[in-house]
Amino acid sequence: MTQNVRELTEEGVEARLAEVLGQERFAPPVTFADDAEITDPGIRARAAADPVGYWEGEARKLRWSTPWTTALNDAEAPFYRWFEGGRINISDNCLDRHVEAGLGDRVAYHWHGEEGEERDVTYAELLDRTARFAGALRALGVREGDVVGIYLPMIPEVVVAMLACTRIGAIHNVVFGGFSAGSVAERMEISDAKVLVTVDGSRRKGRTMPVKPEVDSHMGHLAGLEKVVVVRHAGIDVDMTDGRDVWFDEALDAADPVDPVPMDAEAPLFILYSSGSTAKPKGIQHTTGGYLTAITTTHRQAFDLKPDEDVFFCTADVGWVTGHSYIVYGPLANATTSVMYEGAPDYPHKGIWWELVERRKVTKLYTAPTAIRACMKWGVEHVAPHDLSSLKLLGSVGEPINPKAWLWYWHVIGGERCPVIDTWWQTETGAIVVTSLPGIDDAKPGSAGHPLPGFEVDVRDAETGDVVPEGEGLLAIPRPWPSMLRTLYGDPDRYVSTYWERFGKETYFVGDSARVDADGYVWVIGRVDDVINVSGHRLSTAEVESAIVAHPQVAEAAVVARADDLTGQAIIAYVTVQQGGDPCDALADEINGEIAERIGKLARPKRIVFTQDLPKTRSGKIMRRLLRDIAEDRDLGDTTTLADPGVVATLQEQYRAGA
Ligand code: PRX
Repeated sequence: MTQNVRELTEEGVEARLAEVLGQERFAPPVTFADDAEITDPGIRARAAADPVGYWEGEARKLRWSTPWTTALNDAEAPFYRWFEGGRINISDNCLDRHVEAGLGDRVAYHWHGEEGEERDVTYAELLDRTARFAGALRALGVREGDVVGIYLPMIPEVVVAMLACTRIGAIHNVVFGGFSAGSVAERMEISDAKVLVTVDGSRRKGRTMPVKPEVDSHMGHLAGLEKVVVVRHAGIDVDMTDGRDVWFDEALDAADPVDPVPMDAEAPLFILYSSGSTAKPKGIQHTTGGYLTAITTTHRQAFDLKPDEDVFFCTADVGWVTGHSYIVYGPLANATTSVMYEGAPDYPHKGIWWELVERRKVTKLYTAPTAIRACMKWGVEHVAPHDLSSLKLLGSVGEPINPKAWLWYWHVIGGERCPVIDTWWQTETGAIVVTSLPGIDDAKPGSAGHPLPGFEVDVRDAETGDVVPEGEGLLAIPRPWPSMLRTLYGDPDRYVSTYWERFGKETYFVGDSARVDADGYVWVIGRVDDVINVSGHRLSTAEVESAIVAHPQVAEAAVVARADDLTGQAIIAYVTVQQGGDPCDALADEINGEIAERIGKLARPKRIVFTQDLPKTRSGKIMRRLLRDIAEDRDLGDTTTLADPGVVATLQEQYRAGA
């Protein structure tokens, strides 16, 4: 297999992808299926027969200090309560339990710094630091139910800070390190945070950025913020405010370790702010027992986990829900060894992920389609030198994955011997909801597959709300699940109106449109606002994009709708080309031909705009709102969350010049 990877060439890959592009199903590779943990095809049906009982069975695998009395209380739906009466501590389940079982020397994280630093953190070390930082938080006045803000880069201290909160029942509110200090201040203010844990400075692609000074200039007016704890990381000089600021290491050294406090199963665990349809972010609130149950189970099932053997690498940032659930809580609850990488996927070079996979013998890799497409664009030359034969399974999350990217991932990275799981979920669901059971299910590239055991989803007619057995509609979750959000922090009315009015208080409104096929596979199309209606025909941006990127010269495409006098909406496509590709009229014609062939002439864009880059958030999501604004010649508004705000200005000029 290693040989196979080393011989990769662009032409060879293109030829192979062309061969398999039309293949509808991919069975689990035999070598994988033979060795899989879950091989019982009846598992879903058994869970569906008694979902609450099924989740109780999963919850019992954790260590509870007091068993629950009511597994699911729906008396005040949609304010559901799981495992009522039970008491449990998350850091106890993620750390103490494993150390007591003799796993103290197991590595929890192989941490890799941007400049090549390496640091292994064992379960015993993580426990020691967590117990002491919990003591430090207490000494700073943090009590059960207080909110602690965390604004840190991808360093092990972020995990220590999160787990220390859970140890004493504080609620963490992690803000992605790529957000500006101004948005951190907003989130601290609306969550009434008492303490903020941050860093002197952060490193990004060889540069050091001051963080603490930024925090000082934005956070000063927050009366409720009593203490700021600063991790020494970038080694820059910072001012410390007497009486407010403390160094993380000094606080840790001075503190007495504390034991885990048994928490009510429904005690708030964390708040994570996420974008909604209005400018005000939604404080999505998760609780303790149900979240841990579903995270532990889904991590084990979706990734076919073998905790004694696996090395798990989730490339997300801890500041997003994927990082919370599948870098921190799922892997730790399952006593897994993970790789944590501080840097960007193209720093210090475009093959860094593959170097890390080789160096740490990563077995399970979890990343996003946007990253996969970036790697496609950079070319196989960055992959080819590395031995990826340790990989056993590949996961995708965050947006629909177009079949070409799926196949590239499967062929180039997985060497055709690793199942690819496409995992659908949201910040609100807390855990993966729809994905293949990798040892059992055939994968269909572009479809997330079926719900995991104990979950149910369906597709509803947008007009009537009736379940659509086969076809397209609005995705819904017709039954509560343990890791569901419980409310929006401080705004229960918005919780009800956003999620529980469309289909009633028993059925969760997802906000995505989806198609279910004759085999029951779920094909998520996109957010409801990403569906385009051209002359009364519904088209998905994902479907059109997928057709466009099927062209060998195309690297990435983003499609948006623009109001059109004739057809209602018209499609505008923004396209980046592969290295060596020629963005010319002839290529636009070929792309149109590709779309006409794959979907139909009606799906051809009104305009194809070739661009060097697409506007993306720092987490890599394409900001379609900005592309729509450009296409409709509106003011661009706030572009500060973009990885590179320059991209959008150039694109706007270019768009106007060609209009
Ligand atoms: O539209 C769906 C898309 O991402 C949304 C959730 O975004 P967020 O809360 O930021 O969480 C992302 C990581 C879990 C969903 O409503 N989405 C997520 N995963 C997929 C997806 N769309 C299609 N396929 C997926 N696998």
